[in-house]
Amino acid sequence: MQGLTEVLFRRCYEHCFPNAVERAVSPFLSLTHGRLSNAWDKIEDVLPERNTGSIPVVPQILGREPDLFLQLACRLGEMGYSEVNWNIGCPMRRVAGKRRGSGILPYPDLVRGLLETIVPRLDGMSLSVKMRLGYGQPDEIFALIPILNDYPLASVTIHPRTGRQQYGGQCDLERFGRAAALLRHPVVYNGDIRTVADYRDIWRRFPTIADIMIGRGILYDPLLPLRLHGETPEPGRSILFLRTLLDDILTALPTDQARVRKIKEYWCLMWHITGVSESAARAVLRTSSLDATLSAIEQILLSLHTEAS
Ligand SMILES: Cc1cc2nc3c(=O)[nH]c(=O)nc-3n(C[C@H](O)[C@H](O)[C@H](O)COP(=O)(O)O)c2cc1C
Repeated sequence: MQGLTEVLFRRCYEHCFPNAVERAVSPFLSLTHGRLSNAWDKIEDVLPERNTGSIPVVPQILGREPDLFLQLACRLGEMGYSEVNWNIGCPMRRVAGKRRGSGILPYPDLVRGLLETIVPRLDGMSLSVKMRLGYGQPDEIFALIPILNDYPLASVTIHPRTGRQQYGGQCDLERFGRAAALLRHPVVYNGDIRTVADYRDIWRRFPTIADIMIGRGILYDPLLPLRLHGETPEPGRSILFLRTLLDDILTALPTDQARVRKIKEYWCLMWHITGVSESAARAVLRTSSLDATLSAIEQILLSLHTEAS
């Protein structure tokens, strides 16, 4: 996830919870404005020397220019990656408005055009796709399925919302099921998995899917993957993880401004692990200096300690 499941997070997570997750998809590398510059800036995130842990990472590309896609995929191949993931699910308006991410979903010809050009030239690398049901209409996926079925794809991950829905409303499980049944590729479910029960419900309802991908759920509850392995982890381990992540942010980022911004990005989702009310958690977002941000978080963490004792 952009700005969140980057290498800093992945390393910290693996350090705290070895072997808890099977693999990770990188935040997207964007071919913004038809240039590669943006992707080259971000490529640091997937440099092999920074990804030496045991969680396999699949780099993800956002964009629709076949030549640029191939250049970047080729570079990733040289770096040792054997799979790239094409993001056709990003709902951000500035992305979708340019027919990238989920904005390409109403245009089957654009999807076919990219696949037709790149698939034969991927030089042994495999391609997977991460998508939504559509951009404006949830049935757009049904015009895309015959196209996706024409190409060899490693997997198709579906987040069953439209781009326009962003993250609101319910996941459309009925349409997900119909789409999954029509795809000849391994299908991965993604969306709103927060608990072991959510995870089991999806498997129960769709026993033939290949896998389930968890996004925000791991930030809301970093212990969720352990629970899915049948463990009963000490709740304090998620607070320990948060503290380790904060330390890593302080060490890795160069300025206080960057540190505050990054801490707040994580806090927006990770405050859930503290169990405090949203209004109490919001106090952290109202701070501006690094000291104030850290001490607002510390106050919350200390209050948990006091409540527990
Ligand atoms: C802040 C944020 C950044 C995201 N960045 C990406 C991204 O770079 N690539 C991607 O495929 N999905 C990205 N997503 C979407 C998630 O991967 C996932 O599809 C979506 O949140 C639904 O799944 P979830 O309910 O398990 O989070 C992002 C989501 C959020 C909230």
